[in-house]
Amino acid sequence: MNTPDEFAISRRGLLKAGAATASASAGMAAEAQSRAAPPVPADAGAPMAVTLKVNGQTRRLSLDTRTTLLDALREHLHLTGTKKGCDHGQCGACTVIVDGRRINSCLTLAVMHEGAQVTTIEGLGQPGKLHPMQAAFVKHDGYQCGYCTPGQICSAVGALQEIEQGVPSHVSGDLNVKPLLSPVELRERMSGNICRCGAYSNIVDAIGEVAGMTGGVKA
Ligand code: FES
Ligand code: FES
Repeated sequence: MNTPDEFAISRRGLLKAGAATASASAGMAAEAQSRAAPPVPADAGAPMAVTLKVNGQTRRLSLDTRTTLLDALREHLHLTGTKKGCDHGQCGACTVIVDGRRINSCLTLAVMHEGAQVTTIEGLGQPGKLHPMQAAFVKHDGYQCGYCTPGQICSAVGALQEIEQGVPSHVSGDLNVKPLLSPVELRERMSGNICRCGAYSNIVDAIGEVAGMTGGVKA
């Protein structure tokens, strides 16, 4: 059993050790903070001019450089057909076509696309003059709530262009020949577009019809 003196010594030691640990921790925390938070540039967030050609129209914007293309379209140009699902590149609801390629507009900054041609669902077609892909989605009931649909349709248009251009996918058997137009190719190429209503088989039917697949596309 400790005498009162022994107890006093060990208590002092404990306090010293604690102070040393706290000092070391404070030093590590300060170092971590300096690594994690580089100094913010004085002009961060300052507006920057950017010109986009959206659905055939020249649109000049002055944007915070941190504005995503998705927010530029929805919040600044009020083109709300393009949807924000996850805002993390995981659902495909925000898919638009930029300079002929489908991209997730939530994952890219608007100011990175100076002079780019951007096509949104509004630019593909309008009521009374639907794009063939839009008409096929209606015909095949390729949706339920419709939230994912603008992204699905833009992505489908882009996917068929990629097949046409011979761009291989993960499931293409031979990288040296044009990919086959098949249900498995369509499903793979559309795998970045999530539909929480589960309208997948009708979506593939719609795309298959536009692609000219005969004999049905059910895999
Ligand atoms: S909102 Fe862009 S991928 Fe989900
Ligand atoms: S139709 Fe509802 S999420 Fe796809």
